[in-house]
Order: sequence, then C-alpha cells, then structure tokens
Amino acid sequence: MEYSIAEKLISIENLEYSIQNKKILRNVGNDKLPFEIHNLTSTKMDPLGQIVAVLGRSGSGKSTLFKILTGLVAPTNGLVTIPNIANPGEYKTVSEGEVGYVQQNYPLSRNQSVKDMLFSACNMGGHTKSASEDLIEDYLKNWGLADQRNLYTNQLSGGQKQRVAIIEQLLCSHHFMVFDEPFSGLDVVNIIEVKDCFRKIADQNDMNTVIFSTHDIDLAVEIADLIYIIGFEKDGRSIIPGGTIVDIIDMKKNGLAWKEYSSAHREVVRDICKTMIEYS
Ligand SMILES: Nc1ncnc2c1ncn2[C@@H]1O[C@H](COP(=O)(O)OP(=O)(O)OP(=O)(O)O)[C@@H](O)[C@H]1O
Ligand SMILES: [Mg+2]
Repeated sequence: MEYSIAEKLISIENLEYSIQNKKILRNVGNDKLPFEIHNLTSTKMDPLGQIVAVLGRSGSGKSTLFKILTGLVAPTNGLVTIPNIANPGEYKTVSEGEVGYVQQNYPLSRNQSVKDMLFSACNMGGHTKSASEDLIEDYLKNWGLADQRNLYTNQLSGGQKQRVAIIEQLLCSHHFMVFDEPFSGLDVVNIIEVKDCFRKIADQNDMNTVIFSTHDIDLAVEIADLIYIIGFEKDGRSIIPGGTIVDIIDMKKNGLAWKEYSSAHREVVRDICKTMIEYS
C-alpha cells in the first residue's frame, strides 16, 4: 500500500526509569533507535491508523514502559510527548488519561451495567449526552454487544469484558491506545476478535495508534506495522541493567505490513527470536 509519513504522533526521548536504585529502563528512544510514531496517510484516502507491537522477554520492562507511556508513572529522566490538541502544531508531555490504557486484567467497574460504564467513558471523553446515546448504540451493535447492554461485569465472558474495556478507551481517549498483553488467556475466537478490534481501531482514523505488548511473536508479526524489541545490552559478558530498545522492525519498509502471513513473515519471527535471545 502507498503511504506517506506526516507529523509525529508520539515519541519517547532518552527515557530512564529506576526504582529503589534498580534501573528498570535505560535510554529508551535515542538517535540510533528512536521511539517515534508518525502519522501515516494513505494515497487512497482510507484512514491509516497504526498497530505497534512491543516485544521483549519477561522482566524486560514492557509494562513499566506502558505505565510511563500512559502518564501513570513519571519517568526518572526523559520525555514522552504527544500533540497538544489545544494548540495544534505543538507538543506536550503526556499526562494520565490522555493515552488509553487497557491493563492485562481489564479492571471494569463492578457496579455498573455495560451501558452505564460506556456513558461514564463518554462523559470523560467530553461527548454530549445526546451524542453519547448514538455513539454507544453504534458501538454496541458493531462490536457484538447489543444483547449485553444491561449486564454487569460478572455476567460477561472474558472476550466481552475485553471489548467493553476497549470501547471504553475508544470513547474516552483521543487517539492512542495502549494494551498490555491483550491476547494472553484468550481462546482462539477471542484472539481473532481482538485482532479484528485492533484493525477496526486503526481503520477508523489516521491518527489512531494501537500499541500492544505480547509474548506471541507470530501474532505480532502478523498484525503489527511496526515492532519494537526491548532487551538488555551487554558490556562484554555482563548485562547492562535496564531494558532498552534493541531493534526496530518496520513492517511497512520491509513490505510485509497489511499482507497475509507468509514465509517472509516467518523469517521475521525467526530473526526476532534470535534478537531476543541475544539481548537477554
Ligand atoms: N514497583 C516495582 N518495584 C521493584 N521492581 C519493579 C517494580 N515494578 C517493576 N519492577 C521490576 O522491573 C522489571 C520490569 O518489569 P515489567 O513488569 O515492566 O516487565 P515486563 O516486560 O512487563 O514483564 P512480563 O513480560 O513478565 O509482563 C522487573 O524486573 C520487575 O521486577
Ligand atoms: Mg508485563
């Protein structure tokens, strides 16, 4: 697909994070391996949102990075910047609530029905009451939740909960959505549903950007347009503390984005496995 690269949407610059004198993240987003996501525009006028995967072995710092990316945790050093909606053309440091965040265990409200939860999300997102009615009905219908509108969290299946959590984020956050291990513990059908959700989000608006982590490298290579690998660099034989980006695979540049999974994708999976072993 033909595309052109437009303005910057989100960037991480020289990010460091330490806790109790332990370095967790080190120099994430630097000149050599930048963490910068730009708006893409398609020559075909179709919206071209992006799906970005973050891969790394357990303990490499993915969840920590996501908490910083969503403004929940302040970095020890460095910056996460996003466009300033109030002043177009300017950038600002991210604050909590500006980037949607769906944690692994989807903590939905227990004492509200699906519809009420979505109303609260609309409220947070600044939608008027009458616009919210229509928006919620559309989402419920399009995401296969029309029959669940009056149910409570404990009456929903795992996949239904996830869809509600995702719609909540769509209603209350602007364009960025971060999902920490959204595919873990799902059955095959739910996995397909969430993959379709991601595509749906990306196909809705050029600016929409889904960032997710997973341990399923095959899946990441299948659906992501851009892949970051976090790992640990070595100084001789000793590991340098703090996870950092060790490789970036741009599936658009290698011609594999938006394509059916093929032997070329399998090749990329093999390379990623090698990189993850090398930097662990
Ligand atoms: N509050 C904390 N106090 C001390 N150490 C922490 C804290 N939070 C995270 N860590 C450490 O930071 C490192 C990175 O943790 P993080 O949860 O970000 O990894 P991850 O890549 O998400 O792992 P997984 O794939 O298992 O989810 C781990 O070594 C973890 O023990
Ligand atoms: Mg994690």
